[in-house]
Order: sequence, then structure tokens, then C-alpha cells
Amino acid sequence: MASAPAPGPEALEQAARALRDGKLVAFPTETVYGLGANARDDQAVARIFEAKGRPRINPLIVHYADPESAFADVAASSLARDLARQFWPGPMTLILPRAEHCRISPLASAGLSTLAVRVPGNTLARDLIEQAGVPLAAPSANRSGRISPTTAEQVADSLGDRIGFVLAGGRCEVGLESTVIDLTEPTPWILRPGAITPEAIAAATGVDIAYAAGGNETDISRPRSPGLTLRHYAPRARLRLEATEVHDGEALLAFGATDSIRASDGRHASELPDSACLNLSERADLTEAAANLFRMLDALDAEGHGRIAVMPIPDRGLGRAINDRLRRAAAGAGERSD
Ligand code: TXA
Ligand code: MG
Repeated sequence: MASAPAPGPEALEQAARALRDGKLVAFPTETVYGLGANARDDQAVARIFEAKGRPRINPLIVHYADPESAFADVAASSLARDLARQFWPGPMTLILPRAEHCRISPLASAGLSTLAVRVPGNTLARDLIEQAGVPLAAPSANRSGRISPTTAEQVADSLGDRIGFVLAGGRCEVGLESTVIDLTEPTPWILRPGAITPEAIAAATGVDIAYAAGGNETDISRPRSPGLTLRHYAPRARLRLEATEVHDGEALLAFGATDSIRASDGRHASELPDSACLNLSERADLTEAAANLFRMLDALDAEGHGRIAVMPIPDRGLGRAINDRLRRAAAGAGERSD
């Protein structure tokens, strides 16, 4: 197969170092180029959303060098292990419950209790992950709304000014994103069709896995199930957005300076106990706020606050994605059955 010369050890080490430093690196996989960040680093993951200009914080796929490391972060069923034996390394992503001691940033799974994991077939991608020493959260390396890139040139066109390093590895063979299989419900489903087909899965494992409604527009033979749409993060607490004061019984999720924020009893925000007031970013930095979002909501939830007042977040750049998640979390609170 004709391909560009593989990057040498220096390029690989430079890319690995950039990743360890929390920077973004675009790298080839067998499907499409990924925009990678250290999946254990909240700030690094936040930079992915910033660079892509996504109006939403969607959960990302976390890439590993081998199945064993992937299964350390999730609770793998025997079907998951079977599929991994057959199709990893390769263009297949498995969605599984996060393991209790999962060290992946909650931002990478958009606050959900599930995690998408994959071991890419591209050797250069696995070498990079191994050398970086951390798993990589990586969506396709295109700006939001553009097509997924299959060459380093396309990546440079779309994101060149926003990322530090593109590891060039020639053209991606598959050219289509990985098959995404949801294994978190009693019935497994294919959420996104890809090169690993239901026929190949059935032949290899003896298990029939159908496309989820909407997963494959051409397959309408399966009934639609309302549980199959992507679940959204919802805290137990009720959120009140755009708050400019703190009501009785509320905790405060702050953003930026809190000088003007007072509680109903006249106390200043800075006099609230630490357990009832967390600041997404004291210096009003949207990337830092995104990095802290799910961790801080979870921390306030864990303290048992029934209500959380959230200060206004500017609706620009990454702020739009943060506000989108906050609005969904505000609408979803109390409706969660699990
Ligand atoms: O081939 C690929 O999968 C490429 C290369 C770079 O590996 N990556 C990719 O990532 O396509 P992205 O972020 O563009 O697509 C991830 C898909 C989305 O449809 C997302 O909603 C779904 O996976 N996903 C990720 N985590 C999920 C979760 N916990 N539950 C449900 N869906 C999830
Ligand atoms: Mg994509």
C-alpha cells in the first residue's frame, strides 16, 4: 500500500510529550483522524471542545493502546470481552459503564456514568498512546459541522490554527467512523454503523446486534425505543440558572467574580461555607469552567444540596456548550428514574 513515510521517533516523542503537557494532538487512526487529548486531564479535554467549536459537550471516545487498559476503566461484560477479542484493535467502539475507580475525566463522558472505549487498528495511533502513557479522548479532528478528515492536510485545513501538532500518517484506510456499540442495556445496540457490521458481529460471536433507531436510517424494521437516545447528564439537585443571588437552602455554582452575589440573609457569597459554594473559574475562563463543570456539579450533589444556583455564563465560545449542558441538566433534574 502506498503511503507517506511514517513519522520518525522524534515526531512521535514530540507528540507524546505535547499530550502529557495537556496539549491537543491530531493523529491518524484507521477510520478518521482524531483530535486527541489526555483523557485523564479535565483541562486538556476541555480544549478539545474549544478547538472544535462544538455548540454541545457530547461524550467522546477514549482510545487505548490495548484491551486490558481499556477494560481497567469500564465494567466489561463477557460480550464486551468477546467483541474485543474479535475486533480489537479495529474500528469498533464499545460503550460500557464507567468502572468505580475510572480515572477518565468526567468531561470526556459528558458527566454520564458510561464511557466509550476503543483500541484503534492504526499502529501509529497505538504507539502514540503507549508513548504518551495515557489514554486519549479523541473525536474526529474536524471543526464542528465539517466532514471527518482522512488526511493530515484536511486536518490542517480545518483545525490548523487551533492545535499544536498534527501527527501525519497518510490516508486513513477505512475512512468512516468506528461502529459504536452500546453494551450498557440488557439488549446491545449499534448506535452508529461503521465497518464492523451486524453480520460480522453475528458470525464472530453468535450474537445478533441490531441498529438502534436512528442509528441506521435505512433500517426501519426495528421498533423505536425511547431509551435509546443519548442520555443526558442530570444532577439530583434542581438547578436555577442565571442566578444573581443565592436563595435560602441553595448552594452556589459561581463563575468569575462573586462580589455582587448575596444570599437572602444578606451574607456575601464569600461567606458561604466551602461545601456550599464552588467556583467554575474565578478568573472567568471558559475552558477552565468546562473542565470543572461535571466535577463541581457532582461535588455539590454529593453534599446533598437540593438546589443549586448557577451564576450566568457568557454565551460565547465554549460558554455556549456549557450553557447547553446546564439547560439540559436543569430541565432533566428530578426526572431521572435510574
Ligand atoms: O472512528 C472513530 O470513532 C473516530 C476516531 C477518531 O476514533 N472518533 C469519533 O469520535 O468519531 P466522535 O466524538 O466524532 O464520535 C463519538 C460518538 C458520538 O456519536 C457520541 O455521541 C458517541 O460516540 N458516544 C461517545 N460516548 C458515548 C456514551 N457514553 N454514550 C453514548 N454515546 C456515546
Ligand atoms: Mg465526528
